[in-house]
Amino acid sequence: MTPEPGEPTIDWVDERLGASPGIRRLLRYVFPEHWTFMFGEIALYAFVVLIGTGVFLALFFQTSTAETTYLGAYAPLHGETMSLAYESTLNLSLNVPAGLLMRQTHHWAALIFIAAIVVHLMRVFFTAAFRKPRDVNWVIGLTMLVLALLEGFAGYSMPDDLLSGMGLAIAYSVAMSIPLVGANLAFLVWGGEFPGSNDFVSRLFIAHVFVIPALLGLLIAAHLAIIMRQHHSQFRGPGRTERNVVGAPMWPGYALRSLGLLAAVAAVLFLLGGLVQINPIWQWGPYEVYNGTNGAQPDWYLGWLIGALRMMPPWEIHFWGDTWVPNPFFGGVLFPGIVFAILYAIPWLDRRFTRDRRRHDLLERPRDNPTRTALGVALFTWVAFVFGAGATDRVLIRFGFPYESQIQFARVATFLVPLIAFFVARKVCRDLQRSEAHPLRGWSGRRLRRTPDGGFEPVEPDEERTLAGEPPAGGPTV
Ligand code: HEM
Repeated sequence: MTPEPGEPTIDWVDERLGASPGIRRLLRYVFPEHWTFMFGEIALYAFVVLIGTGVFLALFFQTSTAETTYLGAYAPLHGETMSLAYESTLNLSLNVPAGLLMRQTHHWAALIFIAAIVVHLMRVFFTAAFRKPRDVNWVIGLTMLVLALLEGFAGYSMPDDLLSGMGLAIAYSVAMSIPLVGANLAFLVWGGEFPGSNDFVSRLFIAHVFVIPALLGLLIAAHLAIIMRQHHSQFRGPGRTERNVVGAPMWPGYALRSLGLLAAVAAVLFLLGGLVQINPIWQWGPYEVYNGTNGAQPDWYLGWLIGALRMMPPWEIHFWGDTWVPNPFFGGVLFPGIVFAILYAIPWLDRRFTRDRRRHDLLERPRDNPTRTALGVALFTWVAFVFGAGATDRVLIRFGFPYESQIQFARVATFLVPLIAFFVARKVCRDLQRSEAHPLRGWSGRRLRRTPDGGFEPVEPDEERTLAGEPPAGGPTV
């Protein structure tokens, strides 16, 4: 009998490693199916694209801040004094074949990587997938988010252009503002007073191309291994219990679909990299402290910190005539510290207030716990609002709204808006819970209802009226 394709290879591996029981278990591993489970994978595949394009960029990037006079392809900068780091990024963009494509794809991948992580985090929160036993993956995930933010900042700070230089100046003052240790920490990282020693860019380089990606890679591996060990959670539905997993086997179902998602993520990122300009450093020029100007906007995932720095009242803490806590500390350290402290504590806070210590493998819908959902909406609204305040200078320039009034308004609204969002979200959840309606009405404009087999069907007009407590059409008027 002719052997199956690949069989000799499997036999070879099996005879030496006895791997087939493990491989069989892996190939038969069941993954529950739901479109919201793709956000983690999108983050994963954006990370893969980041590594691939990053290796390409690292081959051409120079980590030195030694000065040179530019005579390269971009005429408007001819004769300009700049660092070798900036010049190598210019050459990478304008001289190296596919250099600009790789650079822009890398930058877009970073923006989408962090966006996918944030959406993934919200999915996990609003479906209560952080509950035991997945609280450990919640903590690992949050740590990956912190690393991803640092990695993004380190990455776009390396080219030594005007925009990233200004971002580093803000980061330096935030580091300096940390009480007691700030000055030493800043000197340690920057290698002296801002803009720092010649070693600073190479430190940033090692952190960006080695230390942080290695940590992220390790944590992602742990994250996925824990998911395999615990099994992925699933939504309630026919035949699904806390003790089983209903879904597609790893091979061929899940693996081929996931590979398709990888190809789609890579395709979208390279399309963006090829078609949509991002971070055109040749337009801002090299970084010189005296060239600092207004209107510098960081990458989106740092907007909330700029918003917090802008909104913070001029608080400072003085003792014995010395400034112990300078102002940047409140927006640049305390605010993000509070947000992440709340996020890290969520599994424990939830257990504390629900008194639920059981293991959960079935997910909740947001409507199933209106208070938790409303608190989550309030928290994310708060951060999103502060993020919006990061653009007050743009709003001033674009629409002429006075900067001070915007800041005054933001200082009040930043607490009012989340409060309103809390009550609105809780009301919507309670209504959905009561009506068991699908949150989105169907194409026919009629309300949809979940059928016992997990599908949806439109509610008949008469039944809709009954549900709304109205008499049937053509019946006696009240
Ligand atoms: C580099 C960043 C990250 C990557 C690559 C990643 C990847 C993944 C993947 C592929 C899954 C399975 C599919 C899915 O449910 O989406 C997953 C599940 C999970 N992730 Fe992440 N994740 C990341 C960050 C996070 C963050 C920031 C959190 C939370 C704060 C988190 C918490 C979880 C949890 C609890 C699960 C299990 C979900 C369940 O069983 O329903 N992850 N992650």
